[in-house]
Amino acid sequence: MTCDVRLRDVTDEDLPIFFVQQLDPEANRMAAFTAKDPADRQAFAAHWARILGDETVVHKTVLVDGRVAGHVASFEHFGQPEVSYWIGREFWGQGIATMALTALLRSVRTRPLYARAAKDNVASIRVLEKCGFTVSGEDRGFANARDAEVDEFIFRRDA
Ligand SMILES: CC(C)(COP(=O)(O)OP(=O)(O)OC[C@H]1O[C@@H](n2cnc3c(N)ncnc32)[C@H](O)[C@@H]1OP(=O)(O)O)[C@@H](O)C(=O)NCCC(=O)NCCS
Repeated sequence: MTCDVRLRDVTDEDLPIFFVQQLDPEANRMAAFTAKDPADRQAFAAHWARILGDETVVHKTVLVDGRVAGHVASFEHFGQPEVSYWIGREFWGQGIATMALTALLRSVRTRPLYARAAKDNVASIRVLEKCGFTVSGEDRGFANARDAEVDEFIFRRDA
């Protein structure tokens, strides 16, 4: 069964849904480089106020058949344009992240574009590969969600 995946601007009504998604322990473990305390509502509100007020950040809500499924973004990180995404667990495994990132890549034309994924975040790595990213480097940093240093791949897409 295929579903209708669209991107639209983030609204205030989406934020409580993103907050619940941010609490998911399995999603945090996968993403690794997450908020220090995902349950901190004030930090969450401050983070979203900052990124929604930043004109250099493109942040879109992912709608699946009209339901808020997650978010996808493009922003500058370590001086390079980077993409990221977070999909609520009940929507996993249906190609949603792949379709959402594909849609973002159509509207964000900056190239090269970069992305990062923990080396064991198999799902995210597959999303990036299917969207035309290839490994361009490696890095290692402290990951809040694992309270440890974690290895990650840096991905790049030129076309
Ligand atoms: C990573 C994430 C975005 C994937 O979302 P999704 O909508 O399930 O991804 P897709 O359905 O587009 O799947 C992409 C590929 O990953 C594979 N995949 C999905 N979940 C997987 C898992 N847990 N283990 C292994 N492969 C997995 C799919 O089979 C698919 O590959 P295929 O087409 O070769 O079969 C989602 O799990 C998520 O939001 N996780 C938490 C946040 C996060 O990790 N964000 C990325 C930070 S780098």
